[in-house]
Amino acid sequence: MCSDPVCTTSKCNSILNSVLCAFPLFLHLSLLLSGVWTVGGLEVSTGKVSSIEAMNGSTVLLPCTYSSCIGIKNLYFNWQYNDNGTFPKLCEGEISMEGVEPKVNVYHERVEFVGSSKTNNISILLWNITFEDEGEYICFARNPKEKNRNHSAVFTLLVVDQMKEVDNTLTVIIVSVLGGVIGLVIIVMVIKALVVHFLLKDDEKNKECLVSSSGNDNTENGLSGAKADNKGTPKA
Ligand SMILES: *[C@@H]1O[C@H](CO)[C@@H](O)[C@H](O)[C@H]1NC(C)=O
Ligand SMILES: *[C@@H]1O[C@H](CO)[C@@H](O)[C@H](O)[C@H]1NC(C)=O
Ligand SMILES: *[C@@H]1O[C@H](CO)[C@@H](O)[C@H](O)[C@H]1NC(C)=O
Ligand SMILES: *[C@@H]1O[C@H](CO)[C@@H](O)[C@H](O)[C@H]1NC(C)=O
Ligand SMILES: *[C@@H]1O[C@H](CO)[C@@H](O)[C@H](O)[C@H]1NC(C)=O
Repeated sequence: MCSDPVCTTSKCNSILNSVLCAFPLFLHLSLLLSGVWTVGGLEVSTGKVSSIEAMNGSTVLLPCTYSSCIGIKNLYFNWQYNDNGTFPKLCEGEISMEGVEPKVNVYHERVEFVGSSKTNNISILLWNITFEDEGEYICFARNPKEKNRNHSAVFTLLVVDQMKEVDNTLTVIIVSVLGGVIGLVIIVMVIKALVVHFLLKDDEKNKECLVSSSGNDNTENGLSGAKADNKGTPKA
């Protein structure tokens, strides 16, 4: 209706119009207000998934990205491991300005920094994980541009044994055995049904034979006999 944030009075003559015209202005103002406090500030994120389950001995990516609408200058970041309440630093670095690769100090022998300032990425790799590596990893960042406010995101690592794989194959075996048994039962039932069917057919043939040959040993014959009697009476 009116795309300009500020409308001329001539456009805003009806109530509806004034609401419609005021809306972009309101949006603009609220964005400006909130922007200073939340939208423009630094944000760190571990992405959509905040935990990973990995097998011991494997190498995992601990993801973290940052974003800031007001820009960064001497952005400080580190990765910490929550070791039962103590937070040893795994690595730390500083990004002097946007797009400039950080100088990173790594304090853990199996940690490798794989981030890139080109993609606002401060992820690390943790090589050859063991069960002791399980727990919370904190990606921490501070942008001096916004009064040194602290920002962090937590990523949880769960280490699973290769035994889980065995468990999986076990369940696969159980399921397939069960499936096989059920299949067998079905086949047996089908065979049984067929056999019964054919046996009954044979029985019926035998009955027919018996009926045609002797004609006086079961109910059918009794009925026919009665009919014969009924037919017989008018004649008599
Ligand atoms: C994982 O842990 C189990 C049990 O501690 C061990 O036997 C296995 O070798 C480990 N696997 C790797 C790849 O390190
Ligand atoms: C963690 O800390 C608590 C006390 O703070 C202690 O009782 C517990 O044994 C610790 N666990 C490990 C695995 O170090
Ligand atoms: C991870 O384990 C492999 C094989 O055991 C080894 O060659 C490699 O150096 C290890 N990497 C690190 C960073 O420890
Ligand atoms: C960050 O960088 C790593 C290593 O290059 C990559 O695997 C990962 O997908 C990147 N993450 C994002 C969110 O771009
Ligand atoms: C930010 O974290 C540092 C430790 O890295 C701490 O000394 C400081 O008090 C924190 N600032 C705020 C505002 O939480």
